[in-house]
Amino acid sequence: MKQATKKLLPPVRLRSEISAILISESALARRVKSLAREIQRDYRGKDLVIVSLLNGTVMFLADLIRHLNLPLRLDFIGVSSYGSGTKSRQLVFTKELRIDVKGRDVLLLDDILDTGKTLSAVLKKLRALKPRRIRTCVLLDKPERRIRKIAADHVGFEIPNEFVVGYGLDYAERYRNLPFIGVLKPDVYAGSAHETPISSGRERLPPIPF
Ligand code: PRP
Repeated sequence: MKQATKKLLPPVRLRSEISAILISESALARRVKSLAREIQRDYRGKDLVIVSLLNGTVMFLADLIRHLNLPLRLDFIGVSSYGSGTKSRQLVFTKELRIDVKGRDVLLLDDILDTGKTLSAVLKKLRALKPRRIRTCVLLDKPERRIRKIAADHVGFEIPNEFVVGYGLDYAERYRNLPFIGVLKPDVYAGSAHETPISSGRERLPPIPF
């Protein structure tokens, strides 16, 4: 695992909102490629299903799977935090899995492992579907904020407890398109009265009934 510690200045047009680039586009590209090599070794000859969590994994997933030279199936689970955004933060499933994972080797992909609530809840759901094995892969790991006792099998970068956006990660559904991981300035999210900045400020969409 790599530590993300170096900070670079973001483009001028973003400097009022983004204080620094924590992980550059080129560092992301290099690390994602090496993660793909790790995963490839791990899943050779297996019946791989990648389960990617929406929405934050879009860029990571797209970059990762183009480096995976092995047969695989791909599906998505939609999961988002919904509610007040404070301690009562609730997870809502917005899209269910369609591929049958029974007896197969699942790789669960997420953009960031923060408190661990999301990954724990999804793992519980997946285990009930009786896959042969489940492994997890996250681009970012923020261990300081962990509430659930959980660790990912493949980790791109360990990061400090800062509010990061870009490369799929959002604040209030913005910044997902930035090609780098940047640190959001506190005054952008100040006043939103959220304790969990990574999930704060999102637009509150009602859950989809199944
Ligand atoms: C974010 C992120 C992870 C989760 C991590 O998802 O994408 O899935 O929070 O946080 P946790 O470890 O504290 O559970 P979010 O609910 O913000 O949805 P998004 O992927 O659509 O941004």
